[in-house]
Amino acid sequence: MENKTIDRGRRRFINLFLGGAVVGFLGAIVYPLIRYLIPPKIAEANPANLKVAQEAQMAPGSAVMFKFGRKPGILIRRPDGKFAAFDAVCTHLDCTVQFKADESVIWCACHNGRYDLTGRNISGPPPRPLEPFEVNVLNGDVYVSQKEA
Ligand code: FES
Repeated sequence: MENKTIDRGRRRFINLFLGGAVVGFLGAIVYPLIRYLIPPKIAEANPANLKVAQEAQMAPGSAVMFKFGRKPGILIRRPDGKFAAFDAVCTHLDCTVQFKADESVIWCACHNGRYDLTGRNISGPPPRPLEPFEVNVLNGDVYVSQKEA
């Protein structure tokens, strides 16, 4: 009689222990999976006017990359000293473009697409020009903003 009570107690303890282990194991798998599938909300910075560079620090024939909200952007100082900025996402398959100073072009390494320094697609697969940004120089600082439609 007393052995049965002890066995029930042990069985109950083992069941609780195993149940806890299963719940813990599932939690360790399910929680990260849910966190992965539902990413935390991050406020997307969508700057109206973003300071990207200082005029004096950009020599003609140079470029800098920047983030405009979530998009990559590219600010170019053309050889004539004028600035141009573009959404740096290639219009072909969304690779990030880069400035190729030796050829004075904007180049996409993914499929060898090329744009001139006005953002116009000039060779390779890109079907349309890069999206331009507005560029303003104020007190020696170079600002980029979304172009009005
Ligand atoms: S993604 Fe740029 S050329 Fe294909």
